[in-house]
Amino acid sequence: MDKVKVLFVCLGNICRSPLAEGVFRHQIKERGIEDLFKVDSCGTAAYHIGELPDERSVANAKENGVDYTHRARQLKASDFKDFDLIIPMDDSNLHDVNSLDKRIYDTKILKMRYFDNEGHNQDVPDPYYGGPQGFQNVFDIIDRSSANLVDYLVEAYQLK
Ligand code: 4NP
Repeated sequence: MDKVKVLFVCLGNICRSPLAEGVFRHQIKERGIEDLFKVDSCGTAAYHIGELPDERSVANAKENGVDYTHRARQLKASDFKDFDLIIPMDDSNLHDVNSLDKRIYDTKILKMRYFDNEGHNQDVPDPYYGGPQGFQNVFDIIDRSSANLVDYLVEAYQLK
C-alpha cells in the first residue's frame, strides 16, 4: 500500500508545524505504524528557510516527552502532488494554502483543529511572541488534535 502522506503547515515553519510533525511522528511510532506514513512540515512564508525549530518549542516538547528536529522550508505547488493531506494551523495559513494553484489535485486540506474536540476548527495560536505558557498551550492543542488525526487516518485508510 502507498504511504499516507501528511504535510503540516504554519507561517514560519519554526514553531507550530514542526511541533505538529514531531508530535504526529511520536504518536504513530508509539502505535507501531510509522512505516505507513510520510510526514513533513513547511511554512507559507520564506522568513526562516533552513532554520531549526524554535528552541522554546523544542524544550517544551522535550518536557512532554517528545524529541524532534526539522529544517524549515516553504510550501510549494508540488506539495499538492506529493501529499494526501495538508493540515494548516490557522485560517491565515489555510487561506495561503488555498491560494496556490491546486486545481488538478485532490489533496485534502483540513485545519489542525478540525480534529480537536475541545475547540473544533479553531486556530492553533501562534506562540512566537508569547511566554512559556503559550508553548504548553500549543503543545496540548497539537497533542490532542494529532491523536484524533491519527485515529481518523487509521480508520479512513484502514491501517489497523
Ligand atoms: P510559526 O510561528 O508560524 O508557528 O512557525 C512563527 C514564527 C516566526 C514568525 C511568525 C510565526 N515570524 O514572523 O518570524
